[in-house]
Formats: sequence, structure tokens, C-alpha cells
Amino acid sequence: MYFSDLQKFINHLDATGALKRVKDQVDPYLEVAEIVNRVCKESDNNRALLFEDVKGTTIPLIVNAFGSTHRTASALGVECIETLANKLKLDLDKSAEKESGKALLDLIQAKGNLEKINEAHLQSYLQCGKGLHDLPVLHSWPQDGGRYITLGQVFTQDPDSKIQNCGIYRLQVVDEQTALIRFHPGSGGGDHLQAWHADGVAMPIAIVLGGPPTLTWCAGLSLPSGVTETAFISYLTGHSIDLARCRNSDILVPANAEIVIEGMLSPDDVSDEGPFGNHTGYYTEVSPAPVIKIQSVYRKESAVYPCTVVGPPPMENVYLAEANERILLALLQHDLSWVVDVHLPLEGIYHRAAIVSIDEHGETATEINQLLRQSKLLKNSRLIILLDRDCDLHDFREVYWRVINADCWERNEVLAGRMIDARKSTKRNRIII
Ligand SMILES: Cc1cc2nc3c(=O)[nH]c(=O)nc-3n(C[C@H](O)[C@H](O)[C@H](O)COP(=O)(O)O)c2cc1C
Repeated sequence: MYFSDLQKFINHLDATGALKRVKDQVDPYLEVAEIVNRVCKESDNNRALLFEDVKGTTIPLIVNAFGSTHRTASALGVECIETLANKLKLDLDKSAEKESGKALLDLIQAKGNLEKINEAHLQSYLQCGKGLHDLPVLHSWPQDGGRYITLGQVFTQDPDSKIQNCGIYRLQVVDEQTALIRFHPGSGGGDHLQAWHADGVAMPIAIVLGGPPTLTWCAGLSLPSGVTETAFISYLTGHSIDLARCRNSDILVPANAEIVIEGMLSPDDVSDEGPFGNHTGYYTEVSPAPVIKIQSVYRKESAVYPCTVVGPPPMENVYLAEANERILLALLQHDLSWVVDVHLPLEGIYHRAAIVSIDEHGETATEINQLLRQSKLLKNSRLIILLDRDCDLHDFREVYWRVINADCWERNEVLAGRMIDARKSTKRNRIII
């Protein structure tokens, strides 16, 4: 089932018993996060939570909506993420284009115009009189530097080409008209900011809360350059996204967003952001981040505010990352046909360690390492463990056994980005009963 907006997905979760409505008043300062942290770790009670009465605001709050493998797949309109990964792989296999980014662009172009512009939307939205203070923004952990918007889809444009980027970047609320944004180096939004500021010009920004849940997931996916999140997700799901122009800039955002926040980032305007209790389970250090001067905040009359709580894993973001792994693997295999499987274990906070099985082939471990690290999926891995194709990467005991018993440790090459090459380990001498 495809959900064109967040509230349709919420209704589905409710109807299928995957959502708990909380009617008692809750405090966005620490209390909501404390409840979420417990619920998302309970194996038989892990549900999405809709807090209907949040202290200090009239807007309800949905959290943990993507908080299981099944809920994330449902948000994407499928029973199982492999359905979408297989479709992508099959389409890529048919492409004559060798490089995955170009092949993907061809696939998207072949589908025609996947984004529809519908200017009528957003016109009827209500202005939030108290700006960011109208929203039920959480302060999750005791030492956080303030309240954080955690599931905002941040839309920016390249100043010249006007090609859009949409990514999830955390935003610290300073006051009702000011926020700070954390772009990691190399992020699409951060690159756009550099380009605007290189010309000495302030960058417009639009932060969307809600809209199609497919796009919320896709905003956390690192796509090849030139591929926009809106076009990619429309191609992948087969459903085009209605877009509408913002009130203060020509940025196009989902026409059925719950809430839209618009602002500007001026050159040289930075301020200290953090600490922030992040997905590793540790606080980040305080450091300078770009300042957003808010121009307007507007919302549907019946808006629901979506957010997530990140912290000691497993939490909701783990399931978003799990789906990323399966989709990005299809792109990696198009570029490197000898990659059999990839697993990014939760214990490595997904992007920090990767286990990769490959077919026997000519390159040295050093060359393999370099090739793997060029991919979007493995570029941030601190550690890559290489194994033979017959190893089930999702069987932790098997992986551990092979790595610990590797019979060729002295031949392993330790590189700047570390790698354990356990391919030859134990295989030949193994006792099979
Ligand atoms: C809940 C959540 C929070 C995130 N916070 C940040 C962040 O603060 N800064 C950042 O650069 N990336 C953050 N990410 C990762 C980016 O969303 C991800 O790398 C995405 O690919 C960025 O899009 P881009 O490749 O267009 O920059 C977050 C992801 C999720 C799911």
C-alpha cells in the first residue's frame, strides 16, 4: 500500500495495531524521549507512538513510526525491502551503462516526469504565530544543548543548476526565529551552502516535516550526484510526488507536508551547536554550525509533528539504515559485480564497520579496499571485513568464527581505512560432519 502523506501512514499503523496513542499529557523536555527509549527496545511492545497532548503546544507528535524492519518496509509500500532492492537490481542489470550513478539517471529519465507540480497546495496552510515554538520539539537527553528537530527533510538548491537536494540533518532550536543546522562534510546540503556562500549570497532553505513517508526514508539515503531524492523515490515506488513551491523561495517541497519551515543562511553566520546525544550513544562536542534565520513556519490545520529519538542503539534510525543497506547494495553490485553481499552490523552503528563477501578474483586486498570505499555504502566504514562468497554474513557466529580463526593474519594488509581479509580463513581445513 502506498501512503501519499504521513497521516495516511499513521492511520495504517493504527489500524494494524502497530501504533499506540498516548492521550495523557507528556513533556517534550526529556519525558517523551525517556518513554521512546524504553518502548523502542521492548521486543513485544515496540510500536509507533502518537502523543496527542504535548505540553506547550496543540500539535500532536508521532515518533518511532519507522521503528522496525516491517514498519519501515510498510512506509515504503512493500512487505519486505528486498522487493524494492530486487526491482532496482533487475533494472540496473538491463542497463548498458557501467557506472551505477549514470545507469540510475537513465532509469529515472526513462520513466518521464516523475514529479508533479501542484501550486494550489500549501496556500491554505496556517502560519505558526510563535514560529518554531509552536512545534513540539524534543529535548531528548539531559546534556543536549537544547531542543532538536530530528526528522526534518532539508531541501536546498544548487545556486546555478537549481538541482535540489533533500537530506536529514539535525537542527537545534535557538529561539522561535533561529535554528542551527549540522551538515556533515560532503553532505549535499553542505555542498550547496558552500556554493552559495562562495558567491557571498545567503542560501534559502526549506525544512519539511511529514509528506510521503517514502521521501522521509529517502532523505537519509546518500544518492549518486545528480540524482534527486524526489525523482529516485518516485522511480523506485512507481508513485510520483506532488510538489509545491515554497512561500519565500522557489524551492519545491512535498505538497502534502505536515509542516514547512523556511529560512535563510547568511555567509559567516555561525554559532555553537551541541552537545547532542547521537546515534552512537555518545554526546557530540560543541562546535560551530551555520545559523538559519527563520522566515516562516506554516502547517496543515490538523498537522502532526514527526520526529525520532536517536541514542544508545537499537533505536528507530537503525531500521532506516537497514533499508539503506539493501538499496545501496544494488548500486554497489552494479559497479563491482564481484560483491556478493554486504552487512553493516548494528554493533558498528551501521556505517562504521562493514562485512563484505566477494567472489574470488584478481585484485589484491589493497585494491579491493580502495574500490569498495569509493561507494556511497562503504565510504564511511572504519573497518571492512572481507569474506568468501559462501559465508552467510548475517550469521554472526559464522563470521566471528572465520575472522578469529583466520589462518593468514600475517598476510592481512592494514590500511588507512582498516580491513581484515579473512577470505582464506579456515575454509580448506574445515571439518565438515
Ligand atoms: C535521524 C537522522 C539524523 C541524521 N542527522 C544528520 C546530521 O545531523 N547531519 C548530517 O550531515 N547527516 C545526518 N544524517 C545522515 C544524512 O541524512 C544522510 O547522510 C543523507 O544521505 C544526507 O543526504 P545527502 O547525501 O544529500 O547529504 C542523519 C540521518 C538520519 C536518519
